[in-house]
Amino acid sequence: MRLTPDEQAMADGRDGPAVARAMDLLIRYGEALDAERLVDTRNVTGTFGATSVQMVDFAEKNGGMDAVFSEFNLDSRELVKPPKAKVYTTHLQLTMDPQNAERMNISEEMIRFYPKSAAYAAGLGVQLGHTCTPYQIGNVPVFGEHCAWMESSAVIYCNSVLGGRTNAEGRESAGAASITGKIPYWGYHLDENRLGTHLVTLDVDVETTSDWGLLGYFIGEHVQEHVPVVRARGGRFSQVPNLARLKHFGAAAASSGGVEMYHLVGVTPEAKTEEQAFGGNRIIETLRYGEAERRHTWEQLNSTASDSHVDYVMLGCPHYTLEQIWEACQLLEGRKVHENTEMWIFTPRAIKALADQNGYTKIIEDAGAHLMSDSCSAMSRGVPKGTKVVALDSAKHAHYLPAIANVQAWYGTTADCINAACTGRWEGRFA
Ligand code: F3S
Repeated sequence: MRLTPDEQAMADGRDGPAVARAMDLLIRYGEALDAERLVDTRNVTGTFGATSVQMVDFAEKNGGMDAVFSEFNLDSRELVKPPKAKVYTTHLQLTMDPQNAERMNISEEMIRFYPKSAAYAAGLGVQLGHTCTPYQIGNVPVFGEHCAWMESSAVIYCNSVLGGRTNAEGRESAGAASITGKIPYWGYHLDENRLGTHLVTLDVDVETTSDWGLLGYFIGEHVQEHVPVVRARGGRFSQVPNLARLKHFGAAAASSGGVEMYHLVGVTPEAKTEEQAFGGNRIIETLRYGEAERRHTWEQLNSTASDSHVDYVMLGCPHYTLEQIWEACQLLEGRKVHENTEMWIFTPRAIKALADQNGYTKIIEDAGAHLMSDSCSAMSRGVPKGTKVVALDSAKHAHYLPAIANVQAWYGTTADCINAACTGRWEGRFA
């Protein structure tokens, strides 16, 4: 890999041993992928500190939080003290909401260690965003900006909707990027890899958030790690999808497949036309999405569930927008969550503050549900005690939670889920 004189100096130890270890990691990573060089980044999202019981244990046995950073953010056996983040770095979601840790059945060890871990990350100059949707709380890359982001649902949003450029980084490469401002120049940093490979033609209009989740899940399963280009019915989307719909769509496509970039013709910034989206690429395959495909995907997402008694309703994967909280409140206000059912809604901590100010948290709490932040049931492996059946409005969670929490999962609209919370029964139907 070609290094600039400045990069070579960092690799040689000019800026201290931690930066040298970070450069070593980035060079090994880049060479494994045949990257010719590194690229500057000023925007990193990652995870820092001890985010699991194993890491807490590791910290306690190996000399504290610097040992965790060395091992899990730099892939370094040598214990090095990291400098402060060199570039703007946002912390992603955690494995718990500290305000609701007991409700989430988080271990005492994690609860006890949490303040130390959070203080360590803050001490590094990392912004404690604590969300899988950093683009909702002010970290909004501009078109063409090179980023080093973790979290598949955020990566696909950054690339496709914002026109930022990132691969799905790991904890180690994001850690190394935060103290060097460098990341290998490969994958979605390069123009040619951002072009479409598969055409998806819609025979149905896609409008609701749950419909966008179904479409994303269908596409991810079929194109896997390629770049789909979606052509609307009649060449024009009947409704331009908003942030929440694109958030659900991308998260679903990144779950059933490994999609990190897509184009919606006439909507996303690198697809003003179909020609621009493909950029001369040969189309590998054309897929059709009509009523039969939509129904099949809905059945797939509901395939783990048979018991109509719902113990737990979880909303907020990816973390809910303020608009989604407002919508949920409209469906919930004046009603009560069933005595045998729990309902948790997850949102970024910063949006929860707005929900508090707007009175939405009170509406949710008055109904017997809970507005929570920082995490989710899949990340924390936290569901209410005794949960056997859950209801979800997220295709991503319907994909992961049955295996993670050993539960049955119903997938439907937000209204289906809130009805289930209030009646204790699943009555969602394919519509
Ligand atoms: Fe976010 Fe958890 Fe979903 S971290 S994307 S809410 S699985």
